[in-house]
Amino acid sequence: MRIRAFAGRRGLSKSRYALKAGLTVNALRGMDSPDWNPTAETLRKLEEIIPGEFEADAFLPYARQSIDDDDVAAVADVLRGDFLTTGPAVKAFEDAVAARVGARFAVCCSSGTAALHLAALASGLGPGDRVVVPAVTFLATANAARFVGSEVVFADVDADSGLLTADSFTAALDQEPDVKAVFPVHLGGQPAPMEDIAAIAGKRGIAVIEDACHALGSTYELAGGGAAEVGACRHSLMAAFSFHPVKTIAMGEGGMVTTNDEAVCGRLMEARNHGMIHDADAFENADLAFEGGAANPWYYEMHRVGFNYRCSDIHAALGLSQMGKLERFVRRRRALVERYDRMLEPMAPLVRPLGRRPGTDPAWHLYVALIDFARAGISRGRLMESLRADGIGTQVHYIPVHQQPYYRRRYGPRTLPGADRYYARALSLPLFPAMSDGDVDRVVGALDRALGDAGAPSAKAEGMTGRVRP
Ligand SMILES: Cc1ncc(COP(=O)(O)O)c(C=O)c1O
Repeated sequence: MRIRAFAGRRGLSKSRYALKAGLTVNALRGMDSPDWNPTAETLRKLEEIIPGEFEADAFLPYARQSIDDDDVAAVADVLRGDFLTTGPAVKAFEDAVAARVGARFAVCCSSGTAALHLAALASGLGPGDRVVVPAVTFLATANAARFVGSEVVFADVDADSGLLTADSFTAALDQEPDVKAVFPVHLGGQPAPMEDIAAIAGKRGIAVIEDACHALGSTYELAGGGAAEVGACRHSLMAAFSFHPVKTIAMGEGGMVTTNDEAVCGRLMEARNHGMIHDADAFENADLAFEGGAANPWYYEMHRVGFNYRCSDIHAALGLSQMGKLERFVRRRRALVERYDRMLEPMAPLVRPLGRRPGTDPAWHLYVALIDFARAGISRGRLMESLRADGIGTQVHYIPVHQQPYYRRRYGPRTLPGADRYYARALSLPLFPAMSDGDVDRVVGALDRALGDAGAPSAKAEGMTGRVRP
């Protein structure tokens, strides 16, 4: 719990408050500032003597959707209309995403996981094929290969950014040359080196499918000048997005695949809807399909097993309404990230921002801080608990997927030092558009205090804690 303002309405001086609460005057330093950030213990003691006098701040989760009244109205309009699913909102949302990222086609579906599965199906991956997946990602990236029976070749990542690199991709191919696809992940919204990855993949006929679930709104510079939008598929066959509430825009559950390939788009749409085909030119059962040379009006065929990964118009209406706010959301995310970077500077080398790839302009889904827990003298779990007691939610993105028991059993233990080093230090701090600058200061202040309270011997000796300034 935090306090927004000093409520000295009882006319008590700071020293009287301190005396009554059994605190030192020092513990109340800064109390009259709106950014005052007392310890949980100080707050508890103050609340005992003056209950209700302090306005507590809300809990800050690590991520959160931003829903306005017009989002609610857009969903309500669909509920009052004729189509709850597969209606005009889905098409309008697909068109909006395709236009925004600059792809020819966008196929909306029920989740980011469904988007990755559809992309795996549409690229023709099947049993026994091999797919390179960076070890630091969400489970769904690797699982999408398994959904179609393909095997996962886990690649190492850059220890500071968590991203697949040209070197780690090449090392994975050296270990397993017969690879059919690679799923680069734009971790936290930061684009992976797509030009390099595409160049390596192109030489070997490897399909590139971007896991862009974190990266709607991210861009990267091109070696030859100009910039590419993630999702434009300049260096890939397809890009898969997620619109889960914690992502850049929210649909509740929802996803999208973008591509510039018309045939791929057709396969995505087919697999999304049970494998049903309505194109008379493709019908195989002429005896059932046609009467007097014309296709029967009810007729459809299925040539491959498909799924129900359709998106409802209810969800699409929310997605479309949120798309109108993407630029504002991204601007705010970038501003918050800049503030975190600045505020955390004095805490280096104990705490550092995620490693940055030059030439990228991420939409920042996450703010990952890299913390030297051993040097700080506190475990990640204890730090997370301490921040939680201060009203701050954190998360770890991600446990390297090759360490999951399912994958260990399947492929045996693997040593990926970059992934291990990244994972040992990663902690995602709160980041979402509704956060104020003061919220960032509050998070950094709490982090600084928790590390200082933990002893952080080297931090104290080097005067690193207690120096964070807006
Ligand atoms: C990198 C990554 N890929 C895929 C997914 C799956 O998306 P969804 O939760 O929409 O199924 C997520 C979601 O957390 C993700 O973070």
